[in-house]
Amino acid sequence: MKLFIDTANLADIEEALRGGFIRGITTNPSLLAKEPKGNYVEHIKRITGLAEKYGENISVSIEVFSNDEKEMVRQAVDFVKQIKYKHLAVKIPVSYRGQSNLNVIKTLSDKGITVNCTACVTSLQLMMAAAAGAKYVSLFYNRLRDAENEEKYKAEREALIAGSIVERQDYDPDKVLRETVPLLSDYPEAEIIVGSIRTPLDVKRSALAGGHIVTASLKVLKDSLMHFKTDDSVERFLKDFESWTK
Ligand code: E4P
Repeated sequence: MKLFIDTANLADIEEALRGGFIRGITTNPSLLAKEPKGNYVEHIKRITGLAEKYGENISVSIEVFSNDEKEMVRQAVDFVKQIKYKHLAVKIPVSYRGQSNLNVIKTLSDKGITVNCTACVTSLQLMMAAAAGAKYVSLFYNRLRDAENEEKYKAEREALIAGSIVERQDYDPDKVLRETVPLLSDYPEAEIIVGSIRTPLDVKRSALAGGHIVTASLKVLKDSLMHFKTDDSVERFLKDFESWTK
């Protein structure tokens, strides 16, 4: 599996890149909105600058901010032209209110632009995005899990089940990942990115269920290293060495 960092924060990106354990960076408009106001493209250029400084082949995903098909294509082409970063991927949401964005994915991949199809929550969305040409297909792990119990979406949830669009167990993101892996067998180039990760256990479970890449905040990535027995061992090594030198 590979780890990406899910942030637009330059300090966090630099810290993770210095650690050498991440192979990519994913951002979205909400993550960008947490950073000081400024020019979108200039901020992304700072991110790609860090990627070039610290790593080789570090993937950087940035998202369009429109729901209009033509505008999404225009923005994606413009990002590629302005940012000039070899490993740039443009995030296109799989659909929005009944509008399929697969044609946008196809148009961009035909132009040689790497697409990260985002906001997926079902195995068929992930598979169809890969079929349309997306190199990365992103599953929103915890947002999907939340959907199982969110009171405000009760009617929508039942309608999907009544319409045989999903079954009740399809709100379990690990099951979705396990089912997606065989469904992607005809698209071997496609890689599943698991996003919406909140804990180290999410990282482990989603990777074991089939995610090729897990993208998480620096905090979750650092928490993944924490263990009291590691601390205890290090402390004891230091103490033993100290008493030997006395
Ligand atoms: C993935 O690419 C997204 O940026 C991200 O993981 C969204 O998830 P969250 O906002 O639920 O954390």
